[in-house]
Amino acid sequence: MRKKIVAGNWKMNLDYNEGLALFSEISNMVKDELTGKQQAVICSPFIHLHALVQLGKGNDRISVGAQNAHQMEAGAYTGEVSAKMIKSVGAEYVILGHSERRQYFGESNELLAKKTDTALANGLKPIFCIGETLEERNSEVHFNVVKDQLADGLFHLDEEQFAKIVIAYEPVWAIGTGLTATSDQAQEIHAFIRKEIAARYGEEVAEDTTILYGGSCNAKNAPDLFAKTDIDGGLIGGASLKSRDFVDILKVFN
Ligand code: PGA
Repeated sequence: MRKKIVAGNWKMNLDYNEGLALFSEISNMVKDELTGKQQAVICSPFIHLHALVQLGKGNDRISVGAQNAHQMEAGAYTGEVSAKMIKSVGAEYVILGHSERRQYFGESNELLAKKTDTALANGLKPIFCIGETLEERNSEVHFNVVKDQLADGLFHLDEEQFAKIVIAYEPVWAIGTGLTATSDQAQEIHAFIRKEIAARYGEEVAEDTTILYGGSCNAKNAPDLFAKTDIDGGLIGGASLKSRDFVDILKVFN
């Protein structure tokens, strides 16, 4: 059975104390209110990671992740944070290839392949983001875009490495816009992603891969999205900044 995951992406929000307060609230609610096997993941800015891991100790239902990691192991890269550093504070996950990083920081599939290798080599589980822009969807090349992102970013991995990857499909036009893909649109492309994985790694690996949907996902639309066979949870931006909203999304899996 593949894992059901709802991951919060705080992006560049919340100062240190605000982050700790929100995490504590979420952690308590998760403990009290979740009855299924779903996993909560909070992907915070680097500065929160260590404290959040400490706060989350003793609560198996909540994990902590970073939002980026550098492709190099270490060295003269002023201002950057390595996968080893992230792992050393006890974080478990790292978001790689978020569309904001692709767009604003020029991250290519080739660079993301390297980041993925370094993250895995240091024991982190990548939440690898893929998804098309509005232009690409309108010109009906979205299947090809997603296919290339998978092939160039991930399909160099061997089967054992690939088993540690969580995929997040996030249509860029749905991120922070209030526009959500319909559950049928999302299911269609999630099924395609799983088919691509099956072609590369076989049916069993494909069946076990967690594929999240992201892009204006909230407590209202999550039940419809998560009911689809190939949607295994969500990567949540805006709605992850409010404990009630975020935990309500998690509760869809109760
Ligand atoms: P959103 O962001 O939920 O605010 O649309 C999702 C994301 O960027 O991961």
